[in-house]
Amino acid sequence: MTNQTQDWLEKDKKQLHPVYHPKSHANALVVERGEGVWLFTADGQKILDGMAGLWNVNAGYGREELAKAAYDQMKDLAFTSNFAGMTNLPSIRLADKLAGFAYPGLNTTFFTSGGSESNDSAFKTARYYWKRKGKPTKYKVIARKGSYHGVTLATTFATGLEKYQTMFGPAVDGFVHIPAPNPYRFEGEMKAGETVGQAAARALEEAILREGADTVAAFIAEPVMGVGGVIIPPDDYFPLVRAICDKHEVLFIADEVITGFGRTGEWFALKHWNVKPDILSFAKAITSGYAQLGGIQISDEIRETMESAADSEAWMHGYTYSGHAMACAVGLKNLEIMEAENYPARAKELGKRLLDGLSALKEFGFVGDVRGLGLLCAVEIVSDKNAKTADAVQAMKIFKAAQERGLRTRPVGNSLAFAPPLAINEEEVDEIVKRLGAAMDSVG
Ligand SMILES: Cc1ncc(COP(=O)(O)O)c(C=O)c1O
Repeated sequence: MTNQTQDWLEKDKKQLHPVYHPKSHANALVVERGEGVWLFTADGQKILDGMAGLWNVNAGYGREELAKAAYDQMKDLAFTSNFAGMTNLPSIRLADKLAGFAYPGLNTTFFTSGGSESNDSAFKTARYYWKRKGKPTKYKVIARKGSYHGVTLATTFATGLEKYQTMFGPAVDGFVHIPAPNPYRFEGEMKAGETVGQAAARALEEAILREGADTVAAFIAEPVMGVGGVIIPPDDYFPLVRAICDKHEVLFIADEVITGFGRTGEWFALKHWNVKPDILSFAKAITSGYAQLGGIQISDEIRETMESAADSEAWMHGYTYSGHAMACAVGLKNLEIMEAENYPARAKELGKRLLDGLSALKEFGFVGDVRGLGLLCAVEIVSDKNAKTADAVQAMKIFKAAQERGLRTRPVGNSLAFAPPLAINEEEVDEIVKRLGAAMDSVG
């Protein structure tokens, strides 16, 4: 590390970073610049970003068109209120572009600044909807163990990872967790003859019945769980979930904060199973990380319940930066790029190449499972393949060895996640596999 970098890191102590622990930033990479899939640090390292930042920089780094879209919009109008009585052109254009874009029947968008705000907005909208429908006791949200939905107080307790909750209790009331449909290590109870998908869907129905359907407002799920280890559900899971939600009058919220905008090989991931949510949460790749933007889309049915509300029943919800003019202009330009460069098809094709490459690493004794959907993949590290014993320590060693070899991945539990920019090319995909293989070799 150069003296200059040491100096930067000393000054860096004046900010509190996300998921902070005093040890966590001691050797942080000081990133100065990015280009395509590559990051360049202040002390001259060149790193292949196998995580597209935080699963979001789909268009890759250093895109002039996006910088220009931000510049042009900021010159005209960076921001104005989007609250009652005012609106702006970029948010009008983006909402219009997004109408029906993800799923037919989801034609209305509310903008936020990120994924946590989106999920928080989704929960409040679900509660609002049931109050408007004359069912005010429906307020609970069922989520899955291992899920990640954000860090506002509500989304912290919707999340199914205890480490995000331990120091922030007492828990917010009304969040219930059920086992995730994890084909490699399903933690729920399976009946004879059941598939993992059926057992996991049954867990949802049982939770609804246990809590009382008249108390449950919504079920929330990431189509592919990200932070919880890149868990790809079996094909029968989401169609069953949709039917159970319909049967018990429970809204289905799809948290597509990671999976939205092409990452898995479809524009939105529930399309893989031909299922449609009632509320869709998005963020991250809507701008490829070039501006802070997220949102929810709601079904026409939910929208209609808002139209006849009395004054005292207004949807009293919104953020200063809802419909931020510059962020929406960047989102529009980014969508144009993603369509022109056909990102879902790229993710499908290059995702297969990445998955094939990673699968070859199963020859290592500690690679228990390799999985992927589009350019969203993971390698699960175990100390015993037969017993599937999770080995987060070894995963962390491999993560560090990969970083020394100029490859950025992310340890998620005992797995290493890969979600590179969708602008990646074949050679760069091969480079991920090569560098990861070398890292694995080095830890033995
Ligand atoms: C699935 C999912 N939902 C919500 C969030 C929270 O988004 P944000 O960090 O933008 O608030 C994340 C962040 O990684 C996520 O992966």
